[in-house]
Amino acid sequence: MVSGGALGQPENDRGAWNSRLGFILAAVGSAVGLGNIWRFPFTTAEGGGAVFLVIYLVILVIVGLPVMLGELALGRRGKLNPVGTFRRLANGHPFWVGVGVLFVLTSLFIISWYSVIGGWVLRYIWGSANGSYFADPAGYFNEIQDGPIALGLHAFVIGITALVLAIGVSKGIERVAFIMMPILFVLVVGIAIWVATLDGAGEGYSFYLSPDFSEFDTDILRSATGQAFFSLSLGQGAILTYASYLDDRESLSDNGTIISLADTGVAVLAGFMIFPALAVAGLLTTEAGPGALFIGLATAFAELGTVGRILGSLFFTALFFAAFTSAISLLEPSISFVRDQFKVPRVKAAILMGIIAYIGGIFAALSRTYFGIAAGDGTDIVVILGGLLISLFAGWFLMDAPEEMNRGGRLRLGHYAMWMCRIPIPVVLFTLLVLALVDYVNAIRAGEVFLGL
Ligand code: TRP
Repeated sequence: MVSGGALGQPENDRGAWNSRLGFILAAVGSAVGLGNIWRFPFTTAEGGGAVFLVIYLVILVIVGLPVMLGELALGRRGKLNPVGTFRRLANGHPFWVGVGVLFVLTSLFIISWYSVIGGWVLRYIWGSANGSYFADPAGYFNEIQDGPIALGLHAFVIGITALVLAIGVSKGIERVAFIMMPILFVLVVGIAIWVATLDGAGEGYSFYLSPDFSEFDTDILRSATGQAFFSLSLGQGAILTYASYLDDRESLSDNGTIISLADTGVAVLAGFMIFPALAVAGLLTTEAGPGALFIGLATAFAELGTVGRILGSLFFTALFFAAFTSAISLLEPSISFVRDQFKVPRVKAAILMGIIAYIGGIFAALSRTYFGIAAGDGTDIVVILGGLLISLFAGWFLMDAPEEMNRGGRLRLGHYAMWMCRIPIPVVLFTLLVLALVDYVNAIRAGEVFLGL
């Protein structure tokens, strides 16, 4: 609902959201995606279940929400793509212009593996319809996650994402998402209720809901923080770019809170669907990796026979659209960057960025080791770094940040957000990054990893 396909319009003709609902839908469309339904459950499982959940919720309030408001404020003040916004607000300071460039590069890095999973989801729509995974859900997942078909589907997902951005049919996409997101929501709730009735579900709830704090460590803190930023689409310029089209009278505190609550609600619900499903399948502790969603739900759908085929195809179709609206917001910052800064036409910009994202994803579609690191720690680190930079800029360099965040609404979180962004958040994020770096150097020394290849 950007008027005239405004995503990525040059500065003088950038367009604006038609309505507040249009902005909220696009931002929620960006936030709610594979991060909520696929990444959140298995990251939670790897982080020990309930301990992770509690830490995640705390991190959301003290780190996620303030950085969300910071990124919204930056985007609306800058009214440009990430690079242009930093250049404008930092008066051309090379460091901050470099930060804008970093955002463009890291969003390309994320989309490159994200679309590989988009390809898995497509495969599962098909697999559900003809019941291909019914006999052996784990074997099916193992088979489809890499190889030539995975690569081909990755190319397809990147292709349609670039196509939508090239012809500027974001209006159409948002309409589709407007229908598909509620369907996804209803399905998640429905499946969560249904799995509750199955034998053995109870173990799933206790894993998800009874925390054992003796398991707490800084790795959990890092992955919870990374997950929170990832899920909220922060630290890569996506929310910034969307906020650049937002009317000055709209309240950032109100909108930012709604977006964060909607996103968190979907993630928490996904946990209520997947943990009991895994428990019923007897996979709760063994299947904590990227297969949790796919294998857990596939096992549950297989129980249902023909109904499972229908439910499965519907669920994975809705999930695909959620992923698609997120993918669009991941490719958009780089496209608007080359358009605004180098005056490259929209179609050329989309083709160029599509090719770059495709090449990046070749590794993810062919190497599981690379995929695991890129989608896990690699992404945690780039989003935490992005969050740190946004928080420093919003806390120290954005004049009147609280006023920008408070204007026009009921909630007035501006001062809270600004003070959190000044010292507490940078201290936490910086510490997490240093610890991550130390881990990484140790792993390289021990010969365990080298750039994930
Ligand atoms: N938040 C999306 C999800 O949960 C992924 C995403 C879209 C994203 N845009 C982003 C993540 C920008 C980081 C930055 O699936």
